[in-house]
Amino acid sequence: MTTHKIIVAIDGHSSCGKSTIARALAVRFGYVFIDSGAMYRAVTLFALRRNLISDGKVMREELISLLPEIKIEFIYNPASQKSDMYLNGENVEEEIRQLLVSQNVSPVATIAEVRQAMVQLQQEMGRKKGIVMDGRDIGTVVFPDAELKFFVTASAEIRAKRRFDELSAKGETVSFEEILENIQERDRIDSTRAASPLRKADDALVLDNSFMTQEEQLDWVIRRVEECLKFKV
Ligand code: DC
Repeated sequence: MTTHKIIVAIDGHSSCGKSTIARALAVRFGYVFIDSGAMYRAVTLFALRRNLISDGKVMREELISLLPEIKIEFIYNPASQKSDMYLNGENVEEEIRQLLVSQNVSPVATIAEVRQAMVQLQQEMGRKKGIVMDGRDIGTVVFPDAELKFFVTASAEIRAKRRFDELSAKGETVSFEEILENIQERDRIDSTRAASPLRKADDALVLDNSFMTQEEQLDWVIRRVEECLKFKV
């Protein structure tokens, strides 16, 4: 096996399984996995706790001035065998996945100064390569020179159906239409914001997983990584 390490950038729409693919790839190749969305979620949690967001409106200037006070780290959790997100020394992995954070993260992620701070951290994490990072701007802004880029997508209806099944299985009462609307709204915000909108990098490989199983997707991406490594030996 080659010891040459590369950077794998995975971008794409919300709820299409990017993190699942990225984590599995990282395990397969012994790479570090970074869920960059967790970083924007942690900043959002900080802003919520400081009452800097009300009715979906972020107090931009205040949040920007407090950015130096926000310390964000990923720390490996041997129990779950995953890295947890820490905000100023506190494990917030569970809290950042809660609905309140999901509902407020998009406007926070549109703030250019927040993005600059996160991108700087992300680039530092990738300095030694051997990393799989998923997000919205990884192949376009964070690592434009990444050796391998994927753009993952699936139709909004299929993503909504998967999310609906997932929540229903957990016993949550949700309406399919509400989930579909939320997904379409997040796609709209992510793709139309001024700062680093979601777009496919010109050299990214498209993975439309609408009609693929998780296993098929993983096989496909693993093959692409292996091909890429072959040429880098
Ligand atoms: O992937 P996710 O749903 O956890 O991302 C949360 C939010 O952060 C979502 O609104 C998109 C945004 N995000 C971003 O703007 N850039 C990234 N690199 C990752 C996520």
